[in-house]
Amino acid sequence: MTPPPLIDRYGRAIEYVRVSVTDRCDLRCSYCLPKDFHGFEEPEHWLTFAESTRLLGLMARLGTRRIRLTGGEPLLRRNLPQLAAALARLPGIEEVALSTNGTQLARHAQALRDAGVRRLNVSLDSLRAERVAQVNGRDVLPQVLEGLGAAKAAGFAPIKINTVAMAGVNEDEIDQLVAYCMAEGFILRLIEAMPMGDTGRQTGFLDLQPVKARLCARFGLVDAVLPGGGPARYLATPDGRFSLGFITPLSQHFCATCNRVRLTVDGTMYLCLGQEEKFEFRPLLRGGASDDDLVAALRRAIELKPERHEFREKPHKLVRFMSMTGG
Ligand code: 5AD
Ligand code: SF4
Repeated sequence: MTPPPLIDRYGRAIEYVRVSVTDRCDLRCSYCLPKDFHGFEEPEHWLTFAESTRLLGLMARLGTRRIRLTGGEPLLRRNLPQLAAALARLPGIEEVALSTNGTQLARHAQALRDAGVRRLNVSLDSLRAERVAQVNGRDVLPQVLEGLGAAKAAGFAPIKINTVAMAGVNEDEIDQLVAYCMAEGFILRLIEAMPMGDTGRQTGFLDLQPVKARLCARFGLVDAVLPGGGPARYLATPDGRFSLGFITPLSQHFCATCNRVRLTVDGTMYLCLGQEEKFEFRPLLRGGASDDDLVAALRRAIELKPERHEFREKPHKLVRFMSMTGG
């Protein structure tokens, strides 16, 4: 018998989970992690692959269809392809995806593909070396471009590029990023900076609505819908070969159709990117909980999911950095 799916108090079915496999990162993006940040989770608290797979297997029984591996930088977690392979084999899971900063991608692309990872999102905020160094903390542009090449060669398609659009930082480069992604066959997604932690709040917020109107006219783009049901709203060239997404949590939020929860490396489930509601699974996983106990706990956790984030109304609310939940 199929158990009833996970549905929250607002009638939203949870079919997607973002799993942060480490909170560590080899970069220090200005909008994410402070340069001198040291408050990382203790290794003893990291869920083991067996613990994560068990919990996610139960979620799959309750209707989760898609898993995205995030960080921190997920490729810093040793043997990540092994976890990806175990998750891809879970009954009910239709897709395992990965979001990465790309610095280590050249080394891991083929193994990830072989493990069954199907979709890849890579962060890239600029195509200028000195700007990457400034925004991302280190000049890793050559490594990231090499990683993108390796991902293409390994057969990932489509590859999505995530760009945080920042006023006074890279807003003058958006058209070049569009041209680059068009030429390379990547989907580009522009993201409004979210006020997570002091880093997020100090980032020059750029309203993407006028940018969208301008790019639409300049590149002759039309409205488009891409599969996945995520928060991005898309435009595309009339031939459909190039798509451009806008993730606009501030100028136009999308909470009414939110289908996701987030699991951090220490086994905490966050019910909303922009709120504090959470449920800790590690004590249950390490305290002898049965599958039935865990299913009951998952239902209690989903009950906590708030209606929406309040990035606009309460920008000072969130003290945690984006690296904890991986976007
Ligand atoms: N606002 C918006 N996006 C952010 N990211 C990290 N911090 C922020 C922020 N404050 C994005 C990165 C990356 C993903 C992991 O999260 O660009 O694509
Ligand atoms: Fe690392 Fe991603 Fe945060 Fe940049 S945004 S510091 S790549 S976790």
